[in-house]
Amino acid sequence: MRTVAVINQKGGCGKTTVSINLASALAAKGHRTLLVDMDPQSHCAVGLAVPEEQIEHSIYDVLIGTGRGEPMRINEILWQICERFELAPSSIDLAAFEQQMAGITDRENCLRKVLDGIRDEYDYVVIDCPPSVSLLTFNALRAATDVVVPVEMGYFSLHGLSKQLETLNVLCRQCDQHINVMVLGSMYDIRTKMGREILAELKKNFSNRMFKTVVNFNTKLKEAASLGQPISEYDPSSKGFKDFLSLADELMGTDTKMHRAELVNSLQAKLGVISASAEELLATLKPEPKQQIEVSSDGPTFEEKLADFYGVHQINGKVLFSTLYPRAETVKIAGDFNGWNPELTEMEKVSEKGKWQLQLPLEKGTYRYRLVVDGQWQQDPYNELTEINPFGDMNSVMYVD
Ligand SMILES: Nc1ncnc2c1ncn2[C@@H]1O[C@H](COP(=O)(O)OP(=O)(O)O)[C@@H](O)[C@H]1O
Ligand SMILES: [Mg+2]
Repeated sequence: MRTVAVINQKGGCGKTTVSINLASALAAKGHRTLLVDMDPQSHCAVGLAVPEEQIEHSIYDVLIGTGRGEPMRINEILWQICERFELAPSSIDLAAFEQQMAGITDRENCLRKVLDGIRDEYDYVVIDCPPSVSLLTFNALRAATDVVVPVEMGYFSLHGLSKQLETLNVLCRQCDQHINVMVLGSMYDIRTKMGREILAELKKNFSNRMFKTVVNFNTKLKEAASLGQPISEYDPSSKGFKDFLSLADELMGTDTKMHRAELVNSLQAKLGVISASAEELLATLKPEPKQQIEVSSDGPTFEEKLADFYGVHQINGKVLFSTLYPRAETVKIAGDFNGWNPELTEMEKVSEKGKWQLQLPLEKGTYRYRLVVDGQWQQDPYNELTEINPFGDMNSVMYVD
């Protein structure tokens, strides 16, 4: 039995998407596969349409039972997702695991003991980890034969990457078993130059510690999750599923026999280089500091006038978003250029009247986005170009040339 922990302390880099769909691809290839959700947020249950209100017992009960010497069989909590694919769901109680286990010896080995008890029943166990360095993640690491670190291929992913890897390295050193650590490029958008550069840099640095397979950004993966299905069921002909089949093949073919010290050291040796090149890349790709457009004494230039109109405009090789929300507290932008994460691109209020602006350096291409006004997602009221999205809402569309 191989146990694959999907770890990255950063949220939103694709851990849950990778966990669910890698598990489904392994099952589709004929392997008996168990997905264990170690994140108290229970995103695996959500993404696989397991009704949360009907989860009576979760991995929390099994782990706590093991820690306290009153074991509960993991089989009692499992949900069948499809053929050969089962889920051990989590629950919010898991957030209190660390506190509940305080003072209990061997608390970092609870999951390992649980999985040891079923090693003949499964070929693969995939563990979805929370975005934190906690006792839960450490339990996953202790149980693991393999670690997959998804790294989102966007500008914001480089922030803190070497720190994340360093933490992982420290944790790996505290494990006594062999662990095969591999980096996986995720949410890759081949159309952006930045994505291609980041991928090339990671490949250069990690070489054999990086999967050749890259998980492309594919809206089918998002749709599948929102409808509660693995991609193998939702759209087996999609690019998203092909990526996961190829990842499963590669994982099945990787050698787990390399010596532990060698693995950890190879990662350690790379950290300095990765850190330096990430900084360098960040500097070259850096979005310009937000600028307030000032009207010069000679009267406004054409571009300055353009900037006064709301909507999206290309100015000096950048895209300027302008909008008017007089009463809003926050206005953010979520789009396919930032993994639909509004936290990464907050607009700035530039006038008392309630004008909000943000400039982004975007490569040539077609983009879709929505504005998030005080937490409410909506289309850009000043952009006429729209497109219906899979959820029946309107995305705003823009072309950068
Ligand atoms: N390859 C991908 N293509 C499209 N959307 C993706 C992809 N990977 C992740 N996402 C989306 O990005 C968001 C964050 O992904 P998720 O897997 O939940 O990350 P994490 O578990 O690391 O927080 C989700 O909305 C998910 O649907
Ligand atoms: Mg997650």
